[in-house]
Amino acid sequence: MVNPKNNKSEYGAFFIEPVQATGGYIVPPKDYFRELKKTLDKYGILLVCDEIQMGFFRTGKFLSIEHFDVVPDVIVFGKAMTNGLNPISGIWAREELISPQVFPPGSTHSTFSANPLGTAAALAVMELIESEDFETTVPQKGAYFLRRLQELKAKYVNIGHVEGLGLALRMEICRDDGRTPNRELTDAIMNIGLSGTLSAGGKQRGLVLDIGGYYKNVFTLAPSLYITEEEIDLGVALFEEALLRALSGRA
Ligand SMILES: Cc1ncc(COP(=O)(O)O)c(C=O)c1O
Repeated sequence: MVNPKNNKSEYGAFFIEPVQATGGYIVPPKDYFRELKKTLDKYGILLVCDEIQMGFFRTGKFLSIEHFDVVPDVIVFGKAMTNGLNPISGIWAREELISPQVFPPGSTHSTFSANPLGTAAALAVMELIESEDFETTVPQKGAYFLRRLQELKAKYVNIGHVEGLGLALRMEICRDDGRTPNRELTDAIMNIGLSGTLSAGGKQRGLVLDIGGYYKNVFTLAPSLYITEEEIDLGVALFEEALLRALSGRA
Protein backbone atom coordinates (compact mmCIF):
# COMPACT_ATOMS: atom_id res chain seq x y z
CA MET A 1 0.00 0.00 0.00
CA VAL A 2 2.88 2.38 0.73
CA ASN A 3 4.89 3.27 -2.35
CA PRO A 4 8.55 2.67 -1.37
CA LYS A 5 9.72 5.36 -3.85
CA ASN A 6 8.09 8.28 -2.04
CA ASN A 7 6.86 6.59 1.13
CA LYS A 8 3.28 7.67 0.37
CA SER A 9 0.13 5.64 0.09
CA GLU A 10 -0.96 4.68 -3.40
CA TYR A 11 -4.58 5.19 -2.36
CA GLY A 12 -6.08 8.69 -2.38
CA ALA A 13 -9.37 8.07 -0.64
CA PHE A 14 -11.33 5.51 1.34
CA PHE A 15 -15.09 5.47 0.77
CA ILE A 16 -17.50 4.48 3.55
CA GLU A 17 -21.20 4.35 4.25
CA PRO A 18 -21.67 4.91 8.02
CA VAL A 19 -24.46 2.34 7.91
CA GLN A 20 -23.95 0.04 4.93
CA ALA A 21 -27.10 0.35 2.87
CA THR A 22 -27.47 -2.26 0.13
CA GLY A 23 -24.90 -4.20 2.16
CA GLY A 24 -27.71 -4.94 4.63
CA TYR A 25 -28.04 -1.95 7.00
CA ILE A 26 -25.05 -2.94 9.04
CA VAL A 27 -24.49 -0.68 12.05
CA PRO A 28 -20.80 -0.67 12.99
CA PRO A 29 -19.39 -0.25 16.53
CA LYS A 30 -19.29 3.34 17.81
CA ASP A 31 -15.51 3.70 17.59
CA TYR A 32 -15.09 1.98 14.21
CA PHE A 33 -14.71 5.07 12.01
CA ARG A 34 -12.68 6.99 14.60
CA GLU A 35 -10.11 4.21 14.63
CA LEU A 36 -10.24 3.90 10.84
CA LYS A 37 -9.63 7.65 10.45
CA LYS A 38 -6.49 7.43 12.61
CA THR A 39 -5.04 4.85 10.22
CA LEU A 40 -6.10 6.81 7.13
CA ASP A 41 -4.61 10.05 8.50
CA LYS A 42 -1.35 8.23 9.16
CA TYR A 43 -1.07 7.43 5.43
CA GLY A 44 -2.62 10.68 4.10
CA ILE A 45 -5.72 8.94 2.74
CA LEU A 46 -8.97 10.96 2.62
CA LEU A 47 -12.08 9.60 4.34
CA VAL A 48 -15.06 10.03 2.00
CA CYS A 49 -18.47 9.49 3.56
CA ASP A 50 -21.39 8.41 1.38
CA GLU A 51 -24.63 9.73 2.94
CA ILE A 52 -26.71 9.00 -0.14
CA GLN A 53 -29.03 6.50 1.58
CA MET A 54 -28.46 7.29 5.26
CA GLY A 55 -28.29 11.07 5.14
CA PHE A 56 -30.98 13.59 6.08
CA PHE A 57 -32.32 12.01 9.28
CA ARG A 58 -32.81 8.41 8.09
CA THR A 59 -30.82 7.35 11.18
CA GLY A 60 -32.10 10.15 13.44
CA LYS A 61 -29.22 12.54 12.76
CA PHE A 62 -28.99 14.92 9.83
CA LEU A 63 -25.95 12.95 8.65
CA SER A 64 -25.49 9.39 9.84
CA ILE A 65 -21.75 9.92 10.42
CA GLU A 66 -22.74 12.21 13.32
CA HIS A 67 -23.36 9.06 15.37
CA PHE A 68 -19.70 8.13 15.14
CA ASP A 69 -17.76 11.08 16.54
CA VAL A 70 -15.54 11.60 13.52
CA VAL A 71 -15.34 14.29 10.84
CA PRO A 72 -14.72 12.91 7.35
CA ASP A 73 -12.73 14.85 4.73
CA VAL A 74 -15.47 14.65 2.10
CA ILE A 75 -19.21 13.94 2.31
CA VAL A 76 -21.48 13.13 -0.65
CA PHE A 77 -25.27 13.18 -0.55
CA GLY A 78 -28.30 12.88 -2.83
CA LYS A 79 -31.60 10.95 -2.91
CA ALA A 80 -33.25 12.24 0.32
CA MET A 81 -32.07 15.74 -0.51
CA THR A 82 -35.08 15.97 -2.83
CA ASN A 83 -37.18 13.42 -0.95
CA GLY A 84 -36.35 11.00 -3.77
CA LEU A 85 -37.49 13.26 -6.61
CA ASN A 86 -33.97 13.88 -7.99
CA PRO A 87 -32.04 14.94 -9.94
CA ILE A 88 -29.55 16.72 -7.75
CA SER A 89 -26.71 15.58 -5.57
CA GLY A 90 -24.14 17.38 -3.48
CA ILE A 91 -20.67 17.29 -2.07
CA TRP A 92 -19.14 18.83 1.06
CA ALA A 93 -15.41 18.85 1.68
CA ARG A 94 -12.90 20.34 4.09
CA GLU A 95 -12.18 23.97 3.20
CA GLU A 96 -8.63 23.31 1.99
CA LEU A 97 -9.87 20.65 -0.43
CA ILE A 98 -12.65 22.68 -2.02
CA SER A 99 -11.93 26.38 -1.35
CA PRO A 100 -12.38 28.74 -4.35
CA GLN A 101 -8.57 28.95 -4.54
CA VAL A 102 -8.11 25.24 -5.23
CA PHE A 103 -11.53 24.62 -6.80
CA PRO A 104 -12.66 27.80 -8.57
CA PRO A 105 -16.08 28.03 -10.26
CA GLY A 106 -15.96 26.20 -13.56
CA SER A 107 -13.32 23.68 -12.46
CA THR A 108 -15.83 20.91 -12.90
CA HIS A 109 -19.33 20.24 -14.08
CA SER A 110 -21.93 17.60 -13.39
CA THR A 111 -25.12 16.43 -15.02
CA PHE A 112 -26.99 16.94 -11.75
CA SER A 113 -25.33 20.10 -10.45
CA ALA A 114 -27.78 22.80 -11.47
CA ASN A 115 -31.03 21.12 -12.35
CA PRO A 116 -33.80 23.69 -11.64
CA LEU A 117 -36.38 21.11 -10.58
CA GLY A 118 -33.85 19.34 -8.35
CA THR A 119 -32.75 22.63 -6.79
CA ALA A 120 -36.32 23.72 -6.06
CA ALA A 121 -37.17 20.32 -4.56
CA ALA A 122 -34.00 20.35 -2.43
CA LEU A 123 -34.85 23.82 -1.08
CA ALA A 124 -38.35 22.63 -0.19
CA VAL A 125 -36.85 19.61 1.61
CA MET A 126 -34.47 21.89 3.56
CA GLU A 127 -37.41 24.05 4.66
CA LEU A 128 -39.37 20.97 5.68
CA ILE A 129 -36.42 19.64 7.69
CA GLU A 130 -36.15 22.96 9.56
CA SER A 131 -39.84 22.88 10.43
CA GLU A 132 -39.74 19.30 11.79
CA ASP A 133 -38.05 17.73 14.79
CA PHE A 134 -36.75 14.55 13.14
CA GLU A 135 -33.88 14.36 15.62
CA THR A 136 -36.48 13.56 18.31
CA THR A 137 -39.19 11.74 16.37
CA VAL A 138 -37.04 9.41 14.24
CA PRO A 139 -35.14 7.78 17.18
CA GLN A 140 -38.47 7.35 19.03
CA LYS A 141 -40.17 5.70 16.07
CA GLY A 142 -37.06 3.66 15.33
CA ALA A 143 -36.91 2.39 18.92
CA TYR A 144 -40.58 1.37 18.73
CA PHE A 145 -40.06 -0.41 15.39
CA LEU A 146 -36.97 -2.20 16.71
CA ARG A 147 -38.88 -3.38 19.78
CA ARG A 148 -41.59 -4.82 17.54
CA LEU A 149 -38.94 -6.60 15.42
CA GLN A 150 -37.30 -8.00 18.55
CA GLU A 151 -40.68 -9.38 19.64
CA LEU A 152 -40.98 -11.12 16.28
CA LYS A 153 -37.45 -12.47 16.61
CA ALA A 154 -38.34 -13.94 20.02
CA LYS A 155 -41.21 -15.86 18.37
CA TYR A 156 -39.51 -17.24 15.24
CA VAL A 157 -36.17 -19.08 15.02
CA ASN A 158 -35.91 -18.06 11.36
CA ILE A 159 -35.48 -14.43 12.31
CA GLY A 160 -31.83 -13.92 13.10
CA HIS A 161 -30.08 -10.65 13.84
CA VAL A 162 -32.28 -7.57 14.09
CA GLU A 163 -30.91 -4.09 14.63
CA GLY A 164 -31.56 -0.51 13.71
CA LEU A 165 -30.32 3.03 13.87
CA GLY A 166 -33.26 5.42 13.75
CA LEU A 167 -35.52 4.37 10.89
CA ALA A 168 -32.88 2.27 9.14
CA LEU A 169 -33.59 -1.23 10.39
CA ARG A 170 -32.48 -4.74 9.46
CA MET A 171 -33.90 -8.19 9.95
CA GLU A 172 -31.94 -11.28 8.94
CA ILE A 173 -33.80 -14.35 7.73
CA CYS A 174 -32.07 -17.61 8.63
CA ARG A 175 -32.37 -21.38 8.66
CA ASP A 176 -33.66 -23.16 11.78
CA ASP A 177 -30.29 -22.68 13.52
CA GLY A 178 -31.05 -18.94 13.66
CA ARG A 179 -27.70 -18.09 11.98
CA THR A 180 -27.28 -19.56 8.51
CA PRO A 181 -28.60 -17.20 5.81
CA ASN A 182 -31.84 -18.39 4.22
CA ARG A 183 -32.23 -16.68 0.89
CA GLU A 184 -35.07 -18.96 -0.29
CA LEU A 185 -37.25 -18.08 2.70
CA THR A 186 -36.39 -14.38 2.27
CA ASP A 187 -37.46 -14.46 -1.39
CA ALA A 188 -40.63 -16.42 -0.54
CA ILE A 189 -41.66 -13.81 2.06
CA MET A 190 -40.97 -10.99 -0.37
CA ASN A 191 -42.99 -12.63 -3.16
CA ILE A 192 -45.95 -13.30 -0.86
CA GLY A 193 -45.85 -9.61 0.14
CA LEU A 194 -45.80 -8.55 -3.51
CA SER A 195 -48.70 -10.87 -4.42
CA GLY A 196 -51.05 -8.46 -2.63
CA THR A 197 -52.98 -11.27 -0.97
CA LEU A 198 -52.33 -10.57 2.70
CA SER A 199 -55.24 -9.86 5.02
CA ALA A 200 -53.77 -8.54 8.30
CA GLY A 201 -55.52 -5.35 9.40
CA GLY A 202 -58.83 -6.57 7.99
CA LYS A 203 -58.33 -5.69 4.31
CA GLN A 204 -56.64 -7.32 1.34
CA ARG A 205 -53.17 -5.81 1.15
CA GLY A 206 -49.66 -6.26 -0.15
CA LEU A 207 -46.31 -5.58 1.46
CA VAL A 208 -43.33 -4.21 -0.45
CA LEU A 209 -40.05 -5.30 1.12
CA ASP A 210 -36.47 -4.58 0.15
CA ILE A 211 -33.72 -7.18 0.38
CA GLY A 212 -30.05 -6.46 0.99
CA GLY A 213 -26.97 -8.03 2.53
CA TYR A 214 -24.13 -10.08 1.11
CA TYR A 215 -26.25 -13.26 1.19
CA LYS A 216 -29.45 -11.46 0.15
CA ASN A 217 -31.20 -12.60 3.30
CA VAL A 218 -31.68 -9.27 5.07
CA PHE A 219 -34.85 -7.21 4.96
CA THR A 220 -33.69 -3.61 4.95
CA LEU A 221 -36.44 -1.41 6.32
CA ALA A 222 -36.44 2.31 5.57
CA PRO A 223 -40.00 3.59 6.06
CA SER A 224 -41.22 7.16 5.70
CA LEU A 225 -39.95 9.38 8.53
CA TYR A 226 -43.65 10.21 9.10
CA ILE A 227 -44.65 6.59 9.77
CA THR A 228 -46.95 6.19 12.81
CA GLU A 229 -46.87 3.46 15.47
CA GLU A 230 -50.16 2.13 14.06
CA GLU A 231 -48.55 1.82 10.62
CA ILE A 232 -45.52 0.08 12.12
CA ASP A 233 -47.88 -2.37 13.86
CA LEU A 234 -49.68 -3.01 10.58
CA GLY A 235 -46.38 -3.57 8.76
CA VAL A 236 -45.25 -6.04 11.42
CA ALA A 237 -48.60 -7.87 11.27
CA LEU A 238 -48.41 -8.11 7.47
CA PHE A 239 -44.82 -9.34 7.69
CA GLU A 240 -45.75 -11.98 10.26
CA GLU A 241 -48.59 -13.21 8.03
CA ALA A 242 -46.22 -13.44 5.03
CA LEU A 243 -43.61 -15.25 7.14
CA LEU A 244 -46.14 -17.80 8.42
CA ARG A 245 -47.37 -18.46 4.90
CA ALA A 246 -43.83 -18.86 3.60
CA LEU A 247 -42.95 -21.24 6.46
CA SER A 248 -46.00 -23.39 5.76
CA GLY A 249 -45.13 -23.44 2.05
CA ARG A 250 -48.27 -21.56 0.98
CA ALA A 251 -46.99 -19.06 -1.59
C1 LIG B 1 -25.45 4.49 -0.74
C2 LIG B 1 -25.40 4.81 -2.22
N1 LIG B 1 -24.31 5.41 -2.72
C3 LIG B 1 -24.23 5.71 -4.04
C4 LIG B 1 -25.25 5.42 -4.91
C5 LIG B 1 -25.08 5.74 -6.36
O1 LIG B 1 -25.58 6.96 -6.66
P1 LIG B 1 -25.60 7.42 -8.20
O2 LIG B 1 -26.57 6.51 -8.87
O3 LIG B 1 -26.07 8.82 -8.15
O4 LIG B 1 -24.21 7.25 -8.71
C6 LIG B 1 -26.39 4.79 -4.44
C7 LIG B 1 -27.48 4.48 -5.40
O5 LIG B 1 -28.33 3.71 -5.26
C8 LIG B 1 -26.48 4.47 -3.05
O6 LIG B 1 -27.55 3.86 -2.55
